[in-house]
Amino acid sequence: MTTDANMVAVALPTRRERRLPTRSGKSYFIRTFGCQMNEHDSERIAGLLEADGMNAVASIDEADLVVLNTCAIRENADNRLYGNLGHLKADKDARPELQIAVGGCLAQKDRTIVRDRAPWVDVVFGTHNIDRLVSLLDQADEWGPVTEILDESSSVPDLPAKRDDPHRAWVTIMIGCNNSCTFCIVPSLRGAEMSRRPSDVVSEVRRLVADGVVEVTLLGQNVNSYGRDLDLGGRKPLFADLLRQVGAVEGLERIFYTSPHPKDFNRDVAEAMAETEAVCEHLHLPLQSGSDRVLAAMHRGYNAERFLGKVEMAREVLPDLALTTDIIVGFPGESEDEFQATLDVVAASQFDSAFTFIYSPRPGTAAAGMVDDFIDPDVVRERYLRLTGLQDEISFDKNKATVGQTLRLLSGGPSRKDDAVTSGRSRTNKTVNVAGSVAAGQLFDAEVTIAHPHHLTGRLV
Ligand code: SAH
Ligand code: SF4
Ligand code: F3S
Repeated sequence: MTTDANMVAVALPTRRERRLPTRSGKSYFIRTFGCQMNEHDSERIAGLLEADGMNAVASIDEADLVVLNTCAIRENADNRLYGNLGHLKADKDARPELQIAVGGCLAQKDRTIVRDRAPWVDVVFGTHNIDRLVSLLDQADEWGPVTEILDESSSVPDLPAKRDDPHRAWVTIMIGCNNSCTFCIVPSLRGAEMSRRPSDVVSEVRRLVADGVVEVTLLGQNVNSYGRDLDLGGRKPLFADLLRQVGAVEGLERIFYTSPHPKDFNRDVAEAMAETEAVCEHLHLPLQSGSDRVLAAMHRGYNAERFLGKVEMAREVLPDLALTTDIIVGFPGESEDEFQATLDVVAASQFDSAFTFIYSPRPGTAAAGMVDDFIDPDVVRERYLRLTGLQDEISFDKNKATVGQTLRLLSGGPSRKDDAVTSGRSRTNKTVNVAGSVAAGQLFDAEVTIAHPHHLTGRLV
């Protein structure tokens, strides 16, 4: 569907453009599913709603507007959305003035299905038009339910974000993905790659630092192809250049980024990481599988040997590097030997931690058509447990190896479980709980005293 929003805007300015807050004093609640890009989109949705005079509340019961920002990466994400929409029907029946908006990747994918299955939803919007949400809510107020899904973005949206954490921020450097991993639905939902100009990224980071932010995470589905779509007077900026430029912003202490693609991750980027003090010793390099046949069937563009070569190169350039990954178990046709190859690469890579997923067929993707090769769910579950068992051991060993080390931590304030304990995060992205009080946003040193399977305990030094 396309929109004539611009024509409408010329003929009749929206209320937002007239700067008359339409929902002053009303409240909103946003529930977010999915990845960091979605989390960040939700911050921008919150920014738009606050600019319109609304306030955040902590539960659906208190809200005049509920926004569900959805994910479609695996099937259980779909099921969770439709479960949530079922509960919201009861709220809407009890309070007909409650507005419900559904956006994000699943709305983009299911378009009319959301409306058909949940006619009580007021606004369905997609991944390319979050900036239109307030206008769409106005439209729904006046004319009844509305669906607006655009097929592509015209630019990377520059919207005010309302952040929950005053010291850490996400910064979008690019949207979309030009790869064609056969299991993945993201390219069809987020469109083609589009990079922000380096000067725009750097200005945003400067503004954030002036606002008290000390750590940023640069976001893109495939950050190593950053800049390929830009033309800065005949020159294309590279991700390595961007890291250096962001790293030069005064007052910025830490930079993380996600995700690089192993096929494009190169020595230039590793060297830029090593040379740029603010860039942290952390790399998320998604393996997916350790079998060359499966990797080829996934269209990943590398084999096990090349992956291990990248790991070796990264550790050579960045000796203190912590490495994390994503792995899929049960891709169509995965044999026991092929699964074993994944275990072998996991053992050889010694990841600090891994996000492990059971393959979930996504409509419209190439792998979803390989129905004859789908693996028995019991076999997949058993493999999944073997993989997580192995990775848990490695993660625990990696944590044990840090005992006695002094780590530089960024305080996140009191830990959730105990006010007398400060929860800090290392440059390797590990959580370290330390007795005592360090104000959120402060950097401090702690010696690791105890290793736990998924976090560390330390003492202030
Ligand atoms: N752009 C990122 C990945 C985003 S999706 C990258 O390439 O690194 C995050 C992870 O979800 C993927 O790395 C993959 O491991 C997992 N994933 C994606 N599609 C999936 C599917 N159909 N079934 C199971 N896991 C999937
Ligand atoms: Fe999906 Fe592959 Fe793009 Fe990552 S790189 S978003 S896994 S298509
Ligand atoms: Fe992210 Fe889920 Fe969309 S992982 S890009 S919110 S499908």
